[in-house]
Amino acid sequence: MFNRRTVFAVPAAAAAAVGALTSKVTQAATAVKDIKVDVSTDKEAKRHDIHTEDLDLNSAQAFLTGFRKYVARNVSPVARSRAEAYLASKGVAKDKEMSSPEAYAFMLGDPVYAWASRLSVTTQQLTWHTLVEHYHRNADNYMSEMEKADKSGPGTLELNPDLRLPEYTKHEIHIQPGGYVGDAFAGHIYHSGTKNFYQEENDHDEIHASLANELRLPADGKVTRVLDLGCGIGQLTTACKDRFPQAEVWGIDVGGPMVRYSHLRATKLNSEVHFAQRLAEDTKFPDNHFDIITSYIMFHEVTQEASRKIIAEAHRILRPGGVFIPYDFVMPPKEQDTAAGRRGTGVVAAAGSYAGSRMNGEPFIPQQSVMNFPEEMRKVGFTTARDFAPVRAGKPFTFPTLVATKTA
Ligand SMILES: C[S@@+](CC[C@H](N)C(=O)[O-])C[C@H]1O[C@@H](n2cnc3c(N)ncnc32)[C@H](O)[C@@H]1O
Repeated sequence: MFNRRTVFAVPAAAAAAVGALTSKVTQAATAVKDIKVDVSTDKEAKRHDIHTEDLDLNSAQAFLTGFRKYVARNVSPVARSRAEAYLASKGVAKDKEMSSPEAYAFMLGDPVYAWASRLSVTTQQLTWHTLVEHYHRNADNYMSEMEKADKSGPGTLELNPDLRLPEYTKHEIHIQPGGYVGDAFAGHIYHSGTKNFYQEENDHDEIHASLANELRLPADGKVTRVLDLGCGIGQLTTACKDRFPQAEVWGIDVGGPMVRYSHLRATKLNSEVHFAQRLAEDTKFPDNHFDIITSYIMFHEVTQEASRKIIAEAHRILRPGGVFIPYDFVMPPKEQDTAAGRRGTGVVAAAGSYAGSRMNGEPFIPQQSVMNFPEEMRKVGFTTARDFAPVRAGKPFTFPTLVATKTA
């Protein structure tokens, strides 16, 4: 049986590397080299695909991804289009006030809605089940590959098995077994899972490349250090390095297995980026250190309390004039937007909110949907601006850009 405890221990060489880390990191040149990242889906684009040679896994993945597309594109829209007629048949006004659990229970009375909801959850469960089984069955191979990469460059890896994990970070988000912190192969599993989740639109980090291209620069154009908070498996981190090849680029994440896999992936890409297992609310970086701080879909997975701490920490470690650009669907597109504006009103929206947070293991979306991020940012001294140019116009995962600038 695979022993999770031993795989969390930091290999001696990696532990030694932690101490030497600061001195190993080269001081970036001050001239900004800014190269737009190739967002094409061409396999030749040098990004790391999760593809494995395992026929069983590939077949299961192809089926599950195809099935997910079918549910998202053919079943769920039908369920939504029937909703009004269903409500009318029950004599319920579509904007009737209902709690989310109540609305969801009510909507399950429509067999097509119930079917669509069940299919979404089951597809997600089967995806994780397939991946967990694959990575644990082949644990020796994947672990030895990761151990080898721990000690390789060109970038660096810092693991911290003593990190005190806040309770909220232990949730199994997206119902991924073990979540981001509780399975030694959380990074592998997450990466393979995203093939399904992004419906094959991000197999070569196309979304992350677009996000890196969208990053706004500080007014003086100086970019020597970039940080990706909640970097996950480091896709935005390496895309930032592609865009700013002379900058020192860091990715931090609470999940040890996540940054460990990030480092493995960056090593395969020969990308000189630095990963550390640290908290976004306590990054350990010096004051006034970074020119750009970004994050992608981290904020909807943390609590409001943590968000406030993360915003204050980002302000502390950004240099005056530096910019903080967190991408997330919980960032309001308009100043006056409310939660209702972001997730819609009425019975169907309330039911959908429950389905997402409860059935898909996203416990913090409801509280984050009512968080006024621009206001919280201004409280700690940022000036905020929204840029309405959507990232990847017309594509899934399209968010407006919120730019918070530390007053120079
Ligand atoms: C949905 S994933 C997104 C990962 C990555 N940014 C991407 O583009 O796929 C959210 C990530 O935020 C990390 N995270 C959550 N809370 C955190 C915290 N307080 N500090 C650092 N990372 C955190 C999780 O471990 C997870 O890897």
